Amino acid sequence: MNALNLNDINYIRELVRRHTAIVLEPDKAYLIETRLTPLAQQTGFASLQELIAALRRNAGHDLLTRVLEAITTHETSFFRDIHPFETLKTQVLPDLMARRQPGQTLTVWCAACSSGQEPFSVAMLLHEHFPTLVRGRLRVIATDLSSTILARAREGLYSQIEINRGLPAALLTKYFDKQGLRWQLKPDIRRMVEFQQGNLAEPWPLLPPMDIVFMRNVLIYFGLETKKSILSKVRGILKPDGYLFLGTSETTLNLDAAFEPISMGKTLCYRLRSVR
Ligand SMILES: C[S@@+](CC[C@H](N)C(=O)[O-])C[C@H]1O[C@@H](n2cnc3c(N)ncnc32)[C@H](O)[C@@H]1O
Repeated sequence: MNALNLNDINYIRELVRRHTAIVLEPDKAYLIETRLTPLAQQTGFASLQELIAALRRNAGHDLLTRVLEAITTHETSFFRDIHPFETLKTQVLPDLMARRQPGQTLTVWCAACSSGQEPFSVAMLLHEHFPTLVRGRLRVIATDLSSTILARAREGLYSQIEINRGLPAALLTKYFDKQGLRWQLKPDIRRMVEFQQGNLAEPWPLLPPMDIVFMRNVLIYFGLETKKSILSKVRGILKPDGYLFLGTSETTLNLDAAFEPISMGKTLCYRLRSVR
């Protein structure tokens, strides 16, 4: 197969940026070939160039969606990077429970939740260690741009490889049922998470004030202005004493001075400077 010309590369970069806000830097242009070539084969195009020509002709929303899905990184795992979950359990949730009146709803948002391992890790942690919260007023909201990945997340069905990545054996036994070669989360845990489609770079749907926001490993894909605008919207939705978790290679520094990085256990959390 011939290599893509610069024109096609830039066309795809712009298409991806427009629909997802994801910036494919020139050094990541190889992703276009490695991720779209299999899609061109699956969808019956003779070459990647033909697929791109069809996109340019506006050959249908389905093709565009599949291209965006193929380009996007959905990498995730249960209890990814473990330390934020430890801090959630030992410091953040006890602190918020002490501050909230009984009967007040505690709301957690996993933004860019991919196939669900992150919100389900939060749900299992809550179920294990905070049963009164789970029986009371609690919302775990999980959003992602991709409807396809959200459909997977709602099923809560994972391969053995996905299970092996970060899920403790005791939680597998307690919270999953074997379904053929895969494992499915029990309905009790699946029901704890409300999945919704949403593009972080576009106007947000109506969301309640958040006690805890997990927005991990997604800002990294955006340009500076998009990161700033998303963080300012997080600022608007996070309760004054709430907590924001970002991915290990992400930060609010030089993006939004309202957030203060705080070292908690072996992780960093971000909190609003003003009140508390
Ligand atoms: C690398 S995964 C991170 C998953 C999870 N937060 C974690 O840390 O394991 C990035 C996710 O961001 C989603 N995403 C990319 N651009 C987005 C956007 N503009 N709005 C919402 N989600 C987006 C992708 O669909 C993907 O599922």
